[in-house]
Amino acid sequence: MTHTDPNEHFWPETLAPATAPDLQIPQGACLIDGKVEPCTLVIIGASGDLTARKIIPALYNLDLQGGLADPFLIVGCARTPLQDEAFREKMRTAIRASGPLDESRWPAFSSRLRYQPLEYQDQSSFEELAKFLRGLEKGPGSKGNRIFYLAIPPTLYKTAAQMLGQAGLSPEGSDGKGWCRIVVEKPFGRDLETAVDLDRSLHAYFKEHQIFRIDHYLAKETVQNILMFRFANAIFEPVWNRRYIDYVSITAAESLGVEHRAGYYEEAGVLRDMFQNHMMQLLALTAMEPPSLFEAERVLDEKAKSYWSLRPFPLGDLWKTLVLGQYGAGAIQGKRVPAYRDEPGVAPDSLTPTFALMKVFLDNWRWQGVPFFLTSGKRLADKVTRITIQFKEVPHSMFRQVLGEHISANRLVLCIYPDEKITLTFQTKNPGAKVCLRTVTMDFQYHQNYSGPVLEAYEKVLLDVMLGDHLLFWREDGVERCWSFLTPILRQCEACGERAEMLLPYEAGTWGPRAARELHPDYLLDLKS
Ligand SMILES: NC(=O)c1ccc[n+]([C@@H]2O[C@H](COP(=O)([O-])OP(=O)(O)OC[C@H]3O[C@@H](n4cnc5c(N)ncnc54)[C@H](OP(=O)(O)O)[C@@H]3O)[C@@H](O)[C@H]2O)c1
Repeated sequence: MTHTDPNEHFWPETLAPATAPDLQIPQGACLIDGKVEPCTLVIIGASGDLTARKIIPALYNLDLQGGLADPFLIVGCARTPLQDEAFREKMRTAIRASGPLDESRWPAFSSRLRYQPLEYQDQSSFEELAKFLRGLEKGPGSKGNRIFYLAIPPTLYKTAAQMLGQAGLSPEGSDGKGWCRIVVEKPFGRDLETAVDLDRSLHAYFKEHQIFRIDHYLAKETVQNILMFRFANAIFEPVWNRRYIDYVSITAAESLGVEHRAGYYEEAGVLRDMFQNHMMQLLALTAMEPPSLFEAERVLDEKAKSYWSLRPFPLGDLWKTLVLGQYGAGAIQGKRVPAYRDEPGVAPDSLTPTFALMKVFLDNWRWQGVPFFLTSGKRLADKVTRITIQFKEVPHSMFRQVLGEHISANRLVLCIYPDEKITLTFQTKNPGAKVCLRTVTMDFQYHQNYSGPVLEAYEKVLLDVMLGDHLLFWREDGVERCWSFLTPILRQCEACGERAEMLLPYEAGTWGPRAARELHPDYLLDLKS
């Protein structure tokens, strides 16, 4: 082996430091990728919760890390009448509430903030906004690039998109220059029909490449890592199929209740709130075929194919593959919490599910016959998000005379929360003269050998919108395929005569209804090991 590059470090094998590959990466080197262009971000609904808790703190942190271009202006819009200074003050409080604020960096960030009152149903108000933006873009360095972020209730998405379009704010190159993007928050529709309708309204003025449908779950580091883990390591892919895998379990458990979102949650329930978006994304990342290139369109093509493979749910026999529950009163970490029906804003006879466990199959060559258990719920014993790959037992037990027929099978767990880690369990010999096995766990902590900053999910999402990268967003076909799968289930659940009986009560602070363990016997094991 010859080394011709004098700059390349080369250690003889015997001297190579064991941790060299990790330590060679400069801290923070992977943080911000690509060139961010100057633009104006218009937040529609800027007086709301999402803006204060997520969007503005994320932009502030990006600014601290050099992730915003110059000029980069943030225009807050809402009905609430505010002056620039009052808006800045409100955002300063919001940043403080979410983490430390560096006073020396605040003036520079605050000078990016503007406020423009906006009536969502009033065309002339949007025309005023267009005029205001044209004025701003006369400043030095402006390229006329714009992002419109819809941070308003979902019932207003359609109207706002139409108003933007009619005010001439959607075409790229409008006013002579620049690209134009629109960001749409979740939920994207409440069934197939409304999702298709929303897509149609967006497409009346925006092309697909201009639309960014957010699922911030996808921007979590450990979720992004699933594809790296699967496709940058040769050893897992050959066993990632029905021959070796017994089942896959995807769990997103929350200990929080409905909090201040009762109005939305009563209409949505757990299936719309979690399954249509986050659970389906985790399913696709686990199940999809390798794309030919790590590039948005190719990754989104493979995800869409996974959704196409979803076996239609057995609607006639719904309750054999679906468990729904609703939390009652109980205790979370020693603190008494009310029943869902006693939460403010919830109907006392509400039939909205707060827990679901669903057994689904993918009808394709790789996954035929392998069940995927998808579980999500509120007010469960703990907050846990993880994907468990349960491998099959060895085909022949040569140790059966001493150990019996059963040897625990390998288990790979991709932990997303609370620990960000990957664990693999396998069997080893217990030390001593007797033939005796023990299960051991090997783990990798995601932040091992890395102490630099990381991008929080909304920081990554915003950065990708600025860069025009769709990889971590939903594409129209993916959303519609998932709704095609879920809508008949929702209809059947909501129309069925046994609706009340099949909504199983569970005590807050437990792991959900007992029936979950009947549908998936390893349910508790998947949460804890
Ligand atoms: N908050 C979160 O953590 C979160 C997480 C994921 C997704 N989302 C999605 O992000 C979007 C914004 O969420 P948010 O929590 O910020 O919403 P929000 O606080 O309820 O509403 C945002 C703003 O919209 C205006 N608004 C609210 N209700 C309205 C109504 N009925 N008619 C007209 N305007 C109304 C209000 O501004 P003005 O009165 O000043 O006009 C309000 O400040 C929603 O679609 C939500 O589903 C939110």
